[in-house]
Amino acid sequence: MSARFDGKVVLITGGGGVIAVSTAQAFADQGATVVLAGRTPAKLAEAAGRIRPTGGGEVDRVTVDVTDSGQVAAMVDEVVRRHGGLHVAFNNAGVFGTGAPVADLDPDAWTAVLEVNLTGVFLTMKHEIRHMRAHGGGVIVNMASNIGAHVRRPGMAAYAASKAAVSALTRTAARDHIGDGIRINAVSPGASDTPMSYRPGETRADRDARIASAVPAGRVSDPAEVAAAVLWLASDDSRFVVGHDLVVDGGATS
Ligand SMILES: NC(=O)c1ccc[n+]([C@@H]2O[C@H](COP(=O)([O-])OP(=O)(O)OC[C@H]3O[C@@H](n4cnc5c(N)ncnc54)[C@H](OP(=O)(O)O)[C@@H]3O)[C@@H](O)[C@H]2O)c1
Repeated sequence: MSARFDGKVVLITGGGGVIAVSTAQAFADQGATVVLAGRTPAKLAEAAGRIRPTGGGEVDRVTVDVTDSGQVAAMVDEVVRRHGGLHVAFNNAGVFGTGAPVADLDPDAWTAVLEVNLTGVFLTMKHEIRHMRAHGGGVIVNMASNIGAHVRRPGMAAYAASKAAVSALTRTAARDHIGDGIRINAVSPGASDTPMSYRPGETRADRDARIASAVPAGRVSDPAEVAAAVLWLASDDSRFVVGHDLVVDGGATS
């Protein structure tokens, strides 16, 4: 088995979620110690329990709200204190929010989505980078979406704006910090097989039919397919890739 992440400490925010678990398992399979970070301790415990540390590393968890700068700084300190470093971060925490045309969108609903999806990525990068640049560098992958910079979806203004901004923030941060030995990229999945891929009230059959008509590949992605892209961006295999936003959507925006 390849061990691209032997001895590496990998932090994954939104750690209680479906894509986080799949990505954490992929990192763990390749030797990493993974730390799941999220708001809800019970979800983190359940998620951690599903990951098998087959590559020899550990599986750990830290409670954090990514919208709180003090909590994010403490999260990074805690990861370093427990595991001796932070080499890779996957800033994946996100919410979909409620859909409405712009004229009907509640300003509080707008702010709630922007706070998690955009400010959360800013704050986690800020504190991760402050550690990484003082300790020899690192790699960061931010979670964007194909909804945003790549495709338009009516009724999802806050989500689309937040994720397009993650793409832009990623490019800027990548330029700011490549000289510090920190490589920063983003991944932009299309619909993946998690609860977030369902519209309100939709059955699996409804969702699959909707996706089949909209996505050239004819299906949602398996979260493991998103994880594979994240691992590539986090690995030395992509060492000359900087500030890229990798779309993983079965051709939906091709
Ligand atoms: N699934 C898709 O089709 C798809 C497509 C493109 C992009 N994405 C993106 O992929 C990421 C993961 O999606 P998923 O489908 O795996 O969703 P998920 O299962 O709902 O996971 C999202 C996680 O983010 C955490 N979170 C939310 N607010 C947080 C906060 N303030 N601080 C810390 N953690 C927070 C949630 O934890 P709590 O519940 O404890 O708050 C949850 O565990 C999201 O950024 C999403 O936008 C998903």
